[in-house]
Amino acid sequence: MSAERDDMIATIRAQVRALASALGRDEVSAQVIAAMAAVPRDAFVPPEQRGKAFRNAPLPIACGQTISQPGIVAVMTDLLEVLPSHRVLEIGTGSGYQAAILSLLAAEVCTIETLEPLAVAARARLSQLGYANVHVRHADGALGWPDKAPFDGIMVTAAARAVPPALVEQLKPGGRLVLPLGRTKTFRGLPFIEDQVLHVVAKDADGRISERSLLPVRFVPLISRPPP
Ligand SMILES: C[S@@+](CC[C@H](N)C(=O)[O-])C[C@H]1O[C@@H](n2cnc3c(N)ncnc32)[C@H](O)[C@@H]1O
Repeated sequence: MSAERDDMIATIRAQVRALASALGRDEVSAQVIAAMAAVPRDAFVPPEQRGKAFRNAPLPIACGQTISQPGIVAVMTDLLEVLPSHRVLEIGTGSGYQAAILSLLAAEVCTIETLEPLAVAARARLSQLGYANVHVRHADGALGWPDKAPFDGIMVTAAARAVPPALVEQLKPGGRLVLPLGRTKTFRGLPFIEDQVLHVVAKDADGRISERSLLPVRFVPLISRPPP
């Protein structure tokens, strides 16, 4: 592993320790750390961002979107508690980086992106890099992926105003949904979600739902479509 990747992993560990009281854990699993160390983040960012790829920061990608901060990718992945037998769904493919991390931990990863150019580019990138257990779909992720459901875990990497009901329905008993939630505002006609908090929604073996709010985060908004 390069010195830059070593530094990124050390920074992630320090960030998790600093968030320990909010997270209820002071480290992420060894499997998550190994996946973070193995996936080449520089292959998921535009050429002009490659020099910054291993910084613990979100970076711009195409279509005005971002690749998330590695520390938050590690925290959200850890909270999903993925097992090697799991099938997981990600909403908000973006660059495909989070899907690549999940693909090293799960049996199968389904990921949905609403912006077609991003979905097309991520599909090609993931395939070229050999992440063969990832399926990319261009659609509205708030509706989930009914044909592939149910899922052991679902992660949303854009901020929603409320938990999308379809995602709860598509979660297996015993499954978890990790997502940022906040309030919608607009500034000069542009929507943004403020006061975002990372939530974990759990469905127990009897289908009962519980919800925990953990820590403040900052994501681009989940783009909601009017119902057809
Ligand atoms: C913070 S970026 C995600 C970063 C991504 N996980 C990665 O690893 O690069 C949020 C992404 O969610 C996408 N998005 C927003 N609303 C969506 C929706 N309703 N369905 C699917 N994707 C959506 C955005 O286009 C954007 O690419």
